Amino acid sequence: MYDFESDYSQWRELKLSHRTQQSKLEIVPIANPNALSQSELVSLATLCQNDNFAIYRLGQPSLASKASIRSMTSQLGMLSLDQNLCADNDSISSIKIMELGHTRGYIPYTANALNWHTDGYYNSLHEHIHSFLLHCIQNAAKGGKNMLINHELIYIQLYDKSPALITALMQADALTIPANIEGGVERRSAQSGPVFYRDPSINTLQMRYTARSRSIEWKQDTVLLRAVNMIEELLSDNEFTLNYTLQPGEGLICNNILHGRSAFTNGNIPEQQRVMYRARSYNRLFSGEQLSNALPQ
Ligand SMILES: [Fe+2]
Repeated sequence: MYDFESDYSQWRELKLSHRTQQSKLEIVPIANPNALSQSELVSLATLCQNDNFAIYRLGQPSLASKASIRSMTSQLGMLSLDQNLCADNDSISSIKIMELGHTRGYIPYTANALNWHTDGYYNSLHEHIHSFLLHCIQNAAKGGKNMLINHELIYIQLYDKSPALITALMQADALTIPANIEGGVERRSAQSGPVFYRDPSINTLQMRYTARSRSIEWKQDTVLLRAVNMIEELLSDNEFTLNYTLQPGEGLICNNILHGRSAFTNGNIPEQQRVMYRARSYNRLFSGEQLSNALPQ
């Protein structure tokens, strides 16, 4: 495997040649989410190795329960799941419009568009979300399309403009998320960290990013601010962006790549009320030793 820093040009070449193209977006059929076959695992692992994500489709959408999604996460190597403020007891969140309760007001739980981000950008680095699974139970009458771009490709586009932009984004205090205080109680402390960084345990390129401008603080550094503007520009119109609206029974797995969602409108019947199950993990996909031994390198 090439290293994104020491073997940059080979790594760059490989990433660009293996990237997914919109017209060739491949969907992996899955017969039984409770027992993925070796060939299903190999197909998913190969797509993830190439471009950090894969989309699957269950043969029978009705087989998707919280238990079967949970089972899939373990089979994919997502062993340690994030129990965030909005997840249920089984660590799987139901993402749908919520007008009441503790998720009220969080954009994922509204019909609004979600701008570009990586998940858990507000977490501390030791709790970085390395992967997530998003499974569609029901889609909306209109909208709710996902936009995806492998963050490694944004790294390449920035590096090609100037390596100094990458250096600025790798500063340990590039992006600070102020503490989350609700009703006078601190639910999360302030988090400072880089935008791009190397995970020292698995030597992969990670990204923490949000396009939102409220409740975040960028380090006031000229090159960094130029890099942040450049990311915004690159994300607003990029040949590498993939668009896909998940249908019931389909799901996305990824190594926490950049993503967003368009606004949606639910219909009047229950089948047109958008519901997604989401699991987030501190593990990278297919990183379990047992799993990586079973898969081709
Ligand atoms: Fe997200």
